This record gives sequence, C-alpha cells and structure tokens, in this order.
Amino acid sequence: MKGIVLAGGRATRLRPLTKITSKQLLPVYNKPMIFYPIQTLINAGIKEILIIIAPDYAGHFLNLLGSGKDFGVRFTYEIQEEPRGLADAFIVGENFIGDDNVAMILGDNIFDDDFSESIKNFNKGAMVFAKKVPDANRYGVIEFDDNHNVLSIVEKPEHPKSDFAMVGLYILDNRASKFAKAVQPSGRGEIEIVDVINSYRERGELKVDFVRGVWEDAGTFDSLLRINNYMADKDRSEKERKENA
Ligand code: DAU
Repeated sequence: MKGIVLAGGRATRLRPLTKITSKQLLPVYNKPMIFYPIQTLINAGIKEILIIIAPDYAGHFLNLLGSGKDFGVRFTYEIQEEPRGLADAFIVGENFIGDDNVAMILGDNIFDDDFSESIKNFNKGAMVFAKKVPDANRYGVIEFDDNHNVLSIVEKPEHPKSDFAMVGLYILDNRASKFAKAVQPSGRGEIEIVDVINSYRERGELKVDFVRGVWEDAGTFDSLLRINNYMADKDRSEKERKENA
C-alpha cells in the first residue's frame, strides 16, 4: 500500500492566514498541519508517501519534510499546477501508484484514530470512512439504508440525506487513476472525488467503515481553532499521565 497526501489548493477560505503561506503549513498546536495526515499514514504502516503540493511554497514543504528520513519513511513530491479537484491526485500520482493500492489523505484532515487494520485487510475495490457531523452540507455525504448499505454519495448537497460525512481518507486499488481520468468536471469546475468513489460503488466494490475517534477538516477558522485546542489538551493530558506514572 502506498500513500498520498494531497496538500495543494489555494485555501482562499482561510485568507489572510494563507496569503503568504500554504494552509497545510499552518500550526496545529505544536506542529505544522501536514504532520498529522502524514503521521496517520505512517501509523497505519505506510512507508512510501507521495506529497502533492501547489507550485507556491513548494520549497517550504521540501525544507520542512525533506526525504522522509526523519519520519522513517520515504517521501516523493509532485506539483499540481492547478487545483483541478481531489480526484486529480490519482492522475498526478498515477506513476507513483503503479501496480499498488493507495491510501489518499487530505492535507487538512486531522484524525485521532488508527487505520492500520483497515489498511492491512484491504485487498481490492474502495474503502471510505464516515463520521456523523452536525453540518453535513459542508462535505461529501453518505446515505445509508438500515443495514449500512450505501444508497448514495453526494458532494456538498443542499439538503443532505444523512448526517454522515465522507471524511478525507480514501483507500483504493490502482483503478483509481483510470476512474479519475473518466470523471467530468463538476459545476465548480473540479473533478470530484465522489465520482471516483461512485465508480467503485456502481460496481458493488465499495466498503464503508466509521471513524471512531476525533476527525476534523481544518479548512475553516472555527475547525482550525477546535483542532488546535484538541491537540493542546491531548498533549497536556499525555504529559500529566507520564508525570503521574
Ligand atoms: O474534508 C472532507 C471533505 O473534503 C469531503 O467530505 C469532501 O467530499 C471533499 O470534496 C473535500 O471537501 P473540501 O471542500 O474540504 O475540499 P477542499 O477543496 O477544501 O480540498 C481539500 C484539500 O485538498 C485541501 O487541503 C486542499 C487540497 N486540494 C484541493 C483541491 C480542489 C488540492 O491539493 N488540490 C485540489 O485540486
């Protein structure tokens, strides 16, 4: 299993914070944001990671992350010239993926959960993860029947059919690049990840699991503040636990 961290985009929603830097380099408590999704992949056992970045500030990512040696893994980099959409990660990353399976994580998605079992047990098809949220219309929304079968997945619906967001971690086999190339741009001019996931669903090859721990898409001021506070509290209680041990 290879890993991709998608860390491009323009992050206009976070201006002026992102006027002179990239969203994924902003601090989340004591680390740059991108450390968290990288660590999620590493903790799940992934050792080869492609980091996709925008042309602006590309050098900053290289200075920060280097070869991956400090993390005990190997990093490679690709530049996404334009933010063409999340599905573009599988086109930009086609050569890197090669004949392998791939776990793609968004550079602003922060998890306090462990995906090693899902990744170890993955064989073929697609696996995505759902989390109950109060504001589903901000996300890709997964509609289930009573037996947890997926009925639909829709990107940012005006009237969500459930409270379950599809979070930014996708485990796919290497047909992802082929399916991504067939996707037509949406109304907002992007090739949408939901269309790639739906290609698997239509073939009966999609599985959905649930995120058990904390998940935050740190792409807004409020969610960024929440995850900063969460990581600060977590660090504090871990220190206290060690002191009392
Ligand atoms: O956070 C989970 C949600 O992420 C999902 O529920 C949605 O289905 C999915 O479309 C996505 O929604 P967002 O509105 O959060 O996507 P956003 O445009 O913010 O992009 C997510 C990350 O990917 C962000 O860190 C920037 C990066 N990105 C985005 C685009 C469009 C790229 O690197 N390249 C791109 O072309």
